[in-house]
This record gives sequence, C-alpha cells and structure tokens, in this order.
Amino acid sequence: MMTYYDDLDNDEKRVTAFFKAIEKKVHGICYDLGTGSGILAKKASKYADYVYAIEQNPLIADKTRKNLDKYDNIKFIQADATEYQFMENIDVVICEMLDTALIDEEQIPVINNVIKYAADNTEFIPMAVYSTIELINSKIMGICYYEDEHPKYTSLSDEVKYGMIKLNQYNKPEYEEDIQIKVKNGGLLNAIKITTYTILTDEVILEPTPMLNPPLLIPVEQLNVDEGETITINLKYTMGGGLNTIQTTRRYNK
Ligand SMILES: C[S@@+](CC[C@H](N)C(=O)[O-])C[C@H]1O[C@@H](n2cnc3c(N)ncnc32)[C@H](O)[C@@H]1O
Repeated sequence: MMTYYDDLDNDEKRVTAFFKAIEKKVHGICYDLGTGSGILAKKASKYADYVYAIEQNPLIADKTRKNLDKYDNIKFIQADATEYQFMENIDVVICEMLDTALIDEEQIPVINNVIKYAADNTEFIPMAVYSTIELINSKIMGICYYEDEHPKYTSLSDEVKYGMIKLNQYNKPEYEEDIQIKVKNGGLLNAIKITTYTILTDEVILEPTPMLNPPLLIPVEQLNVDEGETITINLKYTMGGGLNTIQTTRRYNK
C-alpha cells in the first residue's frame, strides 16, 4: 500500500525542484528539518560534509533511521524541530514543512527556532514563499483545498501577489493584510483562492505540485461585483496555527 511518504517521494516535480536547490546550495554542515523518508537528506549527503536529519513523527522514524544508517555522513535524530537545540555550526538548513500560505504546517515555528542558532551566511532551502489571492465564485461550504481540479470555480479576477515571507529570518506567525483586487469578470463573489509559490533558488520557483501547497478556497461574504471595480479583502491567519485561524473580511469599497 502506498503511504503519504511514498506519495511525497513520487512527486517528481516537487522532488526535482528541491534536488536542484540542494545541488546548488548544500555544503558543510547541513540540517534537514522534518526529513520524512529522508529523501532530501540523502541527496544532500552527496554535497555536505555532514547531514543531521531531524523528524518527530514516530510512525516514520524507525524506518527512516534504518534507511539513513547506511550513510556515513548522515545522523538521524528523532526530535521536535520547534524546540531542538542545535549544537553545531549550521551552513545549510533544508526545511520542507510547507503548506499553502504556511498556515497548516510548522515551517514558521521551526524556522523561528533554528534562526536563533544560524549564522549570517547560513543558507535556507527554500529561501522564501509568496502567495496570490484571486476572487472567485464557487459552491463551497467552508474552507477547502483545490485538488484534482475540484471543487469547480469561476474566476472573477487575476491572481494578485501578496505575502512574501523570507525563510532566513524570524517571522511573526500572525499574518494580516488588506489586499486590493480588481474585478476582471463581473459575477457573484463568494470566495477567494490562495495559491502559494516556493522560491527555492534565484532561478527555481515552484508552483503547487500534487503533494505541495494545494491552493486553498476560502468563503467570503458574498457580493455581486462588476468588471473594473476594486475589492479589498482583509486576510488574517496564523502561520503554523492551522486552517481554523483563517479569517476573511470583505471591506466596503462602494
Ligand atoms: C511535508 S513532509 C516533508 C518530508 C520531507 N522533508 C520531504 O520533503 O519529503 C513534512 C515532515 O515534517 C515533519 N514535521 C512536522 N513538524 C515537525 C517538527 N516540529 N519537528 C520535526 N519534524 C516535523 C512531519 O512529520 C513530516 O514528516
């Protein structure tokens, strides 16, 4: 039976993009935080002097430890990376605990811990993420992911970029922004779509893949909108806090 970790490892677009960044950036002492099956740690071991692979999930830990034991320059550590005390100098941090807008996984709490131990020149894979917001019409009952082209929706605007989060620094987990979006196609606005893009290197920007950052559809108070008008959405959430922290308020522009 295929597991979640098999699906992650088989997501070729995701893995290829991370491998490109690892080939370019990994050297010296490298930490792979949330190593999962260890797929990124194994790749990193070709370029690093030593790799520490940290994972907290007991359901995968034993298998990954066994798997990584065969590598002379990888040490597996079962620990919570939000609290782990890093003892070595850190040249490179790999951390793929990404989720759409960084809301539902622990990327930000983990980065906010490791940054206390990092040097000015520590490299981070990924470097940053940003998201876009799009006005849509969709028959959704609540917040949901958009996967395999479901649920269906009609787009009422272009994607508007917001929320660039650099992952080589401390970030306040609470995020809030008023975002202005111009209506391209008039209709009944009742939801927004959030799409997240991952900046792995200056050249590699990764859009959602089958196992990474499925776009989020979020209901908003409904309104008939006309082509050309500007709508302001206040978007609020806690990065690492879970989907139930998301709040949207449609500001009155009319
Ligand atoms: C999306 S998976 C990615 C796994 C692997 N990095 C990869 O790219 O295939 C995220 C992993 O991070 C682990 N994780 C989540 N929070 C963690 C934490 N606080 N400390 C250590 N591992 C964590 C999860 O158990 C999961 O294995």
